[in-house]
Amino acid sequence: MSNTLAVQEAPTKEDTLERMRAKLSEFVPDVELQLKAELAYRINVLKRQLNAVILGHNYMEPALFHSVPDYVGDSLELSRISAKTDADIIVFCGVQFMAETAKILNPQKTVLIPSEKAGCSLASGVTVADVRALKSLYPDVPVVSYVNTYADVKAVSDYCCTSGNAAGVVRHLLGKGHQHIIFLPDQYLAHNTAKEVGIPFVIANTEKAVDLPERALIGWHARCEVHELFTTNDVTSVRQQFPDVAIVAHPEVSPEVLELCDASGSTKQMIDYVRKTTADRYLLLTECSMGDNIAAENPDKEMLRLCSHRCPHMGQITLEDTLDALEKIQYKVHLSDELIQAARTPIDRMLEIR
Ligand code: 13P
Ligand code: SF4
Repeated sequence: MSNTLAVQEAPTKEDTLERMRAKLSEFVPDVELQLKAELAYRINVLKRQLNAVILGHNYMEPALFHSVPDYVGDSLELSRISAKTDADIIVFCGVQFMAETAKILNPQKTVLIPSEKAGCSLASGVTVADVRALKSLYPDVPVVSYVNTYADVKAVSDYCCTSGNAAGVVRHLLGKGHQHIIFLPDQYLAHNTAKEVGIPFVIANTEKAVDLPERALIGWHARCEVHELFTTNDVTSVRQQFPDVAIVAHPEVSPEVLELCDASGSTKQMIDYVRKTTADRYLLLTECSMGDNIAAENPDKEMLRLCSHRCPHMGQITLEDTLDALEKIQYKVHLSDELIQAARTPIDRMLEIR
């Protein structure tokens, strides 16, 4: 599947239902698909009338994912796409920090998020005061903030990164001669990235500067409330039961869990891995809706389900709310001009690194 689902003209009601059936009839009962297709049809008509573009994160629930987004992808792909769109309205079917990033890249456009409840435990896990305290402890150390942060934290950071380019951004800074880098806020992504680039990892303490080795990634203690729940026991017991399974994890899981997996990467990189693997069955350690989306694309491979851990934030975004968003032009992302200007620099720096 390409990451674009764009169509030039709004498909008819019948076409919409047929497209959804083609992807989802193995998972979703037809009565449900008929209801969802009606909503998707109305969204797609309105989207064209309003010159809106819909961006859908890979975690969106299958009926939405396979019907209304013009583009689907991981945080990095969607940031790149939002920087180039000529639509008047961007509807972000994802969480708040993603919609904020789209607004920062498109200050003149209306950016909508279908639910105001779609937060993120990482984004709420670090504040501007935390970043300032770390900067005063380590004055010349650049701050890399994961894109899973709010605009005010980005505004006091030097670089952004996503799970798709974290190692690339850190290598870029090491290449510029920085021996120490502050990496916020995900403890596990920071630790996994430090391992990938081959430098020590230390956890910061805002009370006092910790002793640093010659080179180090200085991390924070926030975690993704979904990915932190996967355990080494989950992996070993799945492997015992299904010895031929390929296991791929998002790098927000702990380093101990990641060590036991066959591969890791951003949500896009996980999708690419499943497409390419020759294994007959696979397991994804991430939000489970994405598993359903991948399963719909890879009917020849068997997906094992570890679906007890769901992201409560991504789950807020529904077709019903997306229709409301377009009908009522809600919920608009509002950021001040100063904040947009300050938060744009670290995002632009990230986007310039290939
Ligand atoms: P990606 O950038 O890999 O799409 O991940 C975003 C996210 O929130 C993962 O939990
Ligand atoms: Fe945030 Fe975790 Fe949900 Fe991703 S899965 S949006 S990191 S809480």
